[in-house]
Amino acid sequence: SDIARLVQALPKAELHLHIEGSLEPELMFELARRNGIEIPFNSVEEIRAAYDFSNLQDFLDVYYVGMNVLITEADFFDLTWAYLQRVDAENVRHVEIFFDPQGHTDRGIAFATVVDGITRALDRAKSELGITSKLILCFLRHLSEEAAFETLEMAKPHLERIDGVGLDSSELGHPPSKFQRVFAAAGELGLLRVAHAGEEGPPEYIHEALDLLKVDRLDHGNRALEDGTLVARLGREQMTLTVCPLSNLRLCGIKRLEDHPLKRMLALGLRATVNSDDPAYFGGYVNDNYIRTAAAIDLSADEIIELAKNSFRGAFLPEAEIERHL
Ligand code: ADE
Ligand code: ZN
Repeated sequence: SDIARLVQALPKAELHLHIEGSLEPELMFELARRNGIEIPFNSVEEIRAAYDFSNLQDFLDVYYVGMNVLITEADFFDLTWAYLQRVDAENVRHVEIFFDPQGHTDRGIAFATVVDGITRALDRAKSELGITSKLILCFLRHLSEEAAFETLEMAKPHLERIDGVGLDSSELGHPPSKFQRVFAAAGELGLLRVAHAGEEGPPEYIHEALDLLKVDRLDHGNRALEDGTLVARLGREQMTLTVCPLSNLRLCGIKRLEDHPLKRMLALGLRATVNSDDPAYFGGYVNDNYIRTAAAIDLSADEIIELAKNSFRGAFLPEAEIERHL
């Protein structure tokens, strides 16, 4: 279709991608075999059939089991390289990827193994594909503040390769305020700050992410639309929202893609972007997110182009680099 051709042709940045969420069932099977790890599935089809979620927690329960096959530096490299090759073919020119170190260090994998594997793939993407990247360490918000501080401590020898910190996992019951001190400490280290907020949680959590965590970008942010004052502020500050339409659909934040608020966000003057979140689990990489959403809510070519430009405007790149992509 014309939309698909436009989306394919547009240079894009992806700003909301959990690298562990790009673990395709085929690679999960392969790594389970390679590492002698039991997984509770007999086939790739069985894995895909299990990806039927009613909410965020439902998905997270499966996501944390899936990542147990990741053991060696080569596993983290293979995972990341597969994602980068995939999005290279979709004309993604810049990626800012999240990783969840606590999902690995808590099962005895060294922090360095994770970072080394991921960054080796990012370096290869730069030299072979011309894809630039940033790496964002996410704290798991269902775990304690103390555990987040321990993770930040583990990151210290690797700050050359880590650009920012984020906050993900179970949102409800784990407000940003729980991590105010560790985000302040991360800021002191010169790290950028982002947080998932308003995916399932109330607008108050978005206020906290802005005021207490001092985020440079908001992940999701959908529920900001319930709060007019907040919408006005996000527009005024040109805060980037990393929206993930297929994720919202698959985690039942919306009933149908036709109900997605992306068009409304743009009309309200919000700097929304389109991202895939956990593409292996939600059934679509970044271009699918653009194409299916555009079809469902009737985005114009101009709106699609604006979304792609926003992905660079919201990227943690120097102004000159951003301009080069617009
Ligand atoms: N971890 C991986 N994907 C996530 C999401 N969409 N929300 C919160 N935590 C996550
Ligand atoms: Zn996410």
